[in-house]
Amino acid sequence: MNTLPQTVFAQRAAFYTTSAVHKDKTVLNRVVELAQPQLTDVVLDVATGTGHTAFAFAPHVKSVIATDITPEMLNEGEKLKIENGIANVEFQLADAHELPFEDATFDIVTCRRAAHHFVDIAQALREMKRVLKPGGRLVIDDRSVPEDDFVDTTLNRLDVLHDRSHVRECRPSEWERMMQEAGCKIEVIEMYPKHRPLSALTEKADRADAQEIAAVIAALNEDQRAAMNVVEKDGEVYLNHWFVMVVGVKSEE
Ligand SMILES: C[S@@+](CC[C@H](N)C(=O)[O-])C[C@H]1O[C@@H](n2cnc3c(N)ncnc32)[C@H](O)[C@@H]1O
Repeated sequence: MNTLPQTVFAQRAAFYTTSAVHKDKTVLNRVVELAQPQLTDVVLDVATGTGHTAFAFAPHVKSVIATDITPEMLNEGEKLKIENGIANVEFQLADAHELPFEDATFDIVTCRRAAHHFVDIAQALREMKRVLKPGGRLVIDDRSVPEDDFVDTTLNRLDVLHDRSHVRECRPSEWERMMQEAGCKIEVIEMYPKHRPLSALTEKADRADAQEIAAVIAALNEDQRAAMNVVEKDGEVYLNHWFVMVVGVKSEE
């Protein structure tokens, strides 16, 4: 098992509770909307962190099981659950690559902003599909990269320097292939950019990695800057981070 995410997230657990990026209501509302929840549904939220996605589903469904491999993230989630009086979310320690649930247990499975930490996304998707009921929805939201070799390589390099537990941010075409191979029919695939300051990448990186991030940006030519939407605003460098939402439906057979 890759234990790097646990080490990184054990240190960042309190930050995730308050992180504006992870609490972003627009994204959470879209994930809920795409899942089409019913009040009788049982939901699994994989790699829940401190539970932002699980809590967003709680008012719309019967119950949510929220799993993660980092105990410190789950402990923060437990605190939030108590503070907010949420009764129908249960936290459980589990690796996304080996989910401790019977086949066909859940009506909806979600996984938000986490798959780029998985060593084998295809295996995690097979597990998520296995525990879904036939006709159930699998909703993924994750960091992504456009279908452009240079931007793909550069952004993936920058993000590993930003956080050494990142493995790969996939293109929409890779998501499409992996979802189909896992046995889910793609219903929606939508990419969206966020224009973010370079400091979002450098502030938690160690010094050498932050210097390399700055050097990569400084070396971009005009076309490469345009492809990554690198611009200076108010004395700060901004660039695009891309995200993808994917909805797959498990066949009824
Ligand atoms: C960026 S946080 C996202 C949290 C949450 N899904 C959200 O939307 O706010 C990524 C989470 O993935 C978890 N994680 C990384 N690898 C994992 C794995 N193999 N299985 C389960 N959780 C994992 C980390 O512990 C961390 O809590």
